[in-house]
Amino acid sequence: MNILLIGSGGREHALARSLSASALCDKLFIAPGNPGTAQHGTNVVIDVADHGAVIAFCRTMGVEFVVVGPEAPLVAGLVDDLTAAGIKAFGPSKAAAQLEGSKAFTKDLCAEFGIPTAAYRRFTDAEAAKTYVRSYGVPTVVKADGLAAGKGVVVAASFEEAEAAIDMMIGGGLGAAGAEVVIEAFLEGEEASFFALCDGRTAIPLGTAQDHKRVFDGDKGPNTGGMGAYSPAAVLTPELQARVMREIIEPTLAGMRARGMPYTGVLYAGLMLTDKGPQLIEYNARLGDPETQVLLPRLKSDLVTAFLAACDGVLDSISLQWSDKAALTVVMAAQGYPGAVEKGSEIRGLDRASAMDDVIVFQAGTKQSGDKILANGGRVLNVTALGSTITEASARAYEAVSRIDWPEGFCRRDIGWRAVERESKG
Ligand code: AMP
Ligand code: GLY
Repeated sequence: MNILLIGSGGREHALARSLSASALCDKLFIAPGNPGTAQHGTNVVIDVADHGAVIAFCRTMGVEFVVVGPEAPLVAGLVDDLTAAGIKAFGPSKAAAQLEGSKAFTKDLCAEFGIPTAAYRRFTDAEAAKTYVRSYGVPTVVKADGLAAGKGVVVAASFEEAEAAIDMMIGGGLGAAGAEVVIEAFLEGEEASFFALCDGRTAIPLGTAQDHKRVFDGDKGPNTGGMGAYSPAAVLTPELQARVMREIIEPTLAGMRARGMPYTGVLYAGLMLTDKGPQLIEYNARLGDPETQVLLPRLKSDLVTAFLAACDGVLDSISLQWSDKAALTVVMAAQGYPGAVEKGSEIRGLDRASAMDDVIVFQAGTKQSGDKILANGGRVLNVTALGSTITEASARAYEAVSRIDWPEGFCRRDIGWRAVERESKG
């Protein structure tokens, strides 16, 4: 079948690689894609916000299956419109994507169905929110209800910080996304990510990962979209994973069904592993970036078959096979990221890096210019390596990084440090 993949980042390069490897995939189109996805299919220009244009493209090109990478088209209802037009699409409906699109929606669902998460209150009035914070104490966490491109969460150590965040959000600093805020209790523990593939009724595990959100070594500096990740996350033992399925993922699926909005697609749970057990920090309605770049290289099963089974409601009939190897990805970003960056510098040595066994260089923010690859964004490359341990995967990934000649870029040097420390203790 012909498949259309929506998105343009490193996640989509990893998706394009796995989708195109499927025996079920004839032609793969990527809208808009990047030079990395072009190695696995045909990049096409479609205005993805114009759902009619996406449907028309599918009809013209005989596309039978659409896979949506990022959250914005999901929250905008692209899957609903494609489905109504008779085109199969992977990802949640607009209603179900509220699990990512509205923190208040998710917290209310957790409260109703007994899903462990931080205690919370919702506010649209800044003074009421501040009074609550004063009575509740700090540290506390202030979250904008809606999608805010990573800027919607403030972990406040002081009342002043909490109040400034409340004023900024309710005052319109994040647009409509901040008109309502959720104030929640500060959770202590180690963070880990758990992915589940869902068909509305059944969920099956799709792997675990840990990422590094801060820009500098030692987890210092401002937050980013993610500077690196590794999979599996050993901290999520098989027992803890079973508990996450039982206490968090399955009740979420049951709750969404009860609300008449069955959840189909990838459910990405951001977890805090507290001394009382795993608690939900947030849901994403899609695969993570850069987590996908370490999950999919470990997946041995056919990705198209798995995604179709989710769409068709038959996930209970399949099981996924995984490589025994660990994977780690190092993000190479343009200097200045997560602030302003310069575009257009040339990246050399990609072939030398990719020539290493078990190394894949995923492209995120790049642009083709003649036979050159130029930097074209903040996070530019995701250098992924497999190894028998995270420690080995890390050594190979950094060896591949050293083969890339791009003076205008930088990366963290300590991706995977928690896992490497764990492995050194045996
Ligand atoms: P989110 O966008 O919801 O994933 O939040 C961004 C980051 O804020 C998370 O990765 C956590 O590090 C932190 N965070 C969010 N909620 C809490 C919480 N209730 N307690 C402690 N840290 C939190
Ligand atoms: N790496 C975090 C995310 O994809 O949301």
